[in-house]
Amino acid sequence: MCGIFGCISKDSPVAPIIIQGLKRLEYRGYDSVGVATLYNERIEVRKDAGKIDEVNNRLRFSEMKGSIGIGHTRWATHGAPTMVNAHPHSDCNGEITLIHNGVIENFLEIKEELLNKGHNFVSRTDTEVVAHLIEEEFKNSSTLEEAFLKALRRIRGSYAIALISSKEPERIFCARNESPLVLGVSEKGVFCASDVPAMLPYTNKIAWVKNGEAAVLDSEGFTIVRIEDNSKIERGLTEITWTLEMAEKQGYPHFMVKEIFEQPQSLRNALRIQKQYMDLLTTFLDRGREIFLVAAGTSYHACLAASYLFSKFARLVTYPVVSSEFIENYGSSIGIDSVVLAVSQSGETFDTLKAVDYARMRAATILAVTNTVGSTLTRVSRAYIVQQSGPEIGVAATKTFTSQLIILAQLGVRLARMRGKISQDDLDEIEGVFKIMPDYVEKALENNSSKVEVLSKKYSGERVFLFLGRGVSSATALEGRLKLLELGYVPALAYPAGESKHGPISVIEEGTPCIFLCPKGETRKEIIGSIMEMKARGARIISICEEGDAEIIGLSEDYLEMPKGIPEPLSPIVYVAPLQLFAYHFACNRGADPDKPRNLAKSVTVP
Ligand code: AGP
Repeated sequence: MCGIFGCISKDSPVAPIIIQGLKRLEYRGYDSVGVATLYNERIEVRKDAGKIDEVNNRLRFSEMKGSIGIGHTRWATHGAPTMVNAHPHSDCNGEITLIHNGVIENFLEIKEELLNKGHNFVSRTDTEVVAHLIEEEFKNSSTLEEAFLKALRRIRGSYAIALISSKEPERIFCARNESPLVLGVSEKGVFCASDVPAMLPYTNKIAWVKNGEAAVLDSEGFTIVRIEDNSKIERGLTEITWTLEMAEKQGYPHFMVKEIFEQPQSLRNALRIQKQYMDLLTTFLDRGREIFLVAAGTSYHACLAASYLFSKFARLVTYPVVSSEFIENYGSSIGIDSVVLAVSQSGETFDTLKAVDYARMRAATILAVTNTVGSTLTRVSRAYIVQQSGPEIGVAATKTFTSQLIILAQLGVRLARMRGKISQDDLDEIEGVFKIMPDYVEKALENNSSKVEVLSKKYSGERVFLFLGRGVSSATALEGRLKLLELGYVPALAYPAGESKHGPISVIEEGTPCIFLCPKGETRKEIIGSIMEMKARGARIISICEEGDAEIIGLSEDYLEMPKGIPEPLSPIVYVAPLQLFAYHFACNRGADPDKPRNLAKSVTVP
């Protein structure tokens, strides 16, 4: 995720303070950096692709003059990581300069309107549109603050914005919707940032800006107002006692658990992806005679779940394939009518790139879903979608998995619509369900996180687990098993529950824990049969079921209740969350570092 930092320094040049602040936001991941300072009522901007120290050596940020400024580390979402796309961005005359973390959903329509009014854009970013919009609104406003608020009322999406202007050379304007924004005050200055670590060296007296709020900073402090009606909000300062390391994890003990709880937000960002990107991929998918969903590890499990969704929604057979098996399995049958949809969080997985290169050589169309703009996979794909999950520091994939799922599910329903398998009303209805999936995940985590921790301790001595599900829940079972393998180092099994009689049931002994995925839906009757089968042989049943599902609960030793109303085809997005947490606590119980499990790398870039 991008990092923003702003400062009004009281007694020293602001540029070195900004650089230090940005360096403490590096953990958020970035690919370009920029700084803007105000001096003698003129704004100077220096920015480029690259890491802070490297760009600073070239552009000498620390020599920039002025005691008020903003700085930004960019995690590319719209537009490649280049100097032109790096933040800060300015209006036509360089009198309004701002930085932004988030995704502006309606930037294209606003850009169109501003282009027609003669505005000149230099970048492809959504952020630059906001600077020009404020410039336009200023023409009919008495103050810059008024223009800022008017512009904020027009944009939709997630943002943490900080702005400086030669029109108001003593102030910084900032605002928040969903992307975090924190303010700080000390004798050294007044600060705004994406996150606490940026200002910890200068102050531990902070105030969080809430959604729908804007703040005006000056040398004395800050004023917070409600964007919608400019009403003033009183908010005192809180003194925090976090260490820097804790602050980087926003108070969580590990990145992995922070990322598990970030899923509602990362899902909301995934749902903000520009529709034209989704339609472009859908068009290519529609042309394919055969579609291969190619990935490794967790991303493969997302493809497995997606193959159920493509079949369910678009009546389309797709082939989910483990990357390392693709060439042997399908290489000779690939041709110009084939479509390969590669899914890779890193965009650098060796096996996935090898499979893609082979398919390209045989004239297949290559599409991709990835979390990393500028990765090799984006460069070899005909079209791709960036899943907007923000950097995932924990080696075990969590939030990137659920984001992949919701993007693949959207592609499935759009393809169904394109093929006339569902009506526009159906599409609108399903897309309405997508919008509440983040809330379902939030509720599932809220209602179960402490119970999962208790269960992880209760079963911490077990050396074998079975994860079982039917239909799309087979993918959830496989992903839950992978998490426990990766983090708990437990040799667990995962199978479609219907397979039990074909072998797995032989490992069941008195007390073997079996984790069943039991969403309400078409597979429910069969799953109950599978539970009875295991129970009859002494297994301990742990069920993940819908809230109040008395029949399943009655068959279980332990159970975790998921919110009602989740459509079965989308259930992996929610039902995987407690399994992620279960594995996380297993690692903690063993005293292992869940962020860095043994023998594993975040991206497997070697054969
Ligand atoms: C999942 O927790 C692991 N980190 C691993 O299986 C990972 O999903 C796999 O290596 C694929 O990575 P990618 O999505 O970056 O291609």
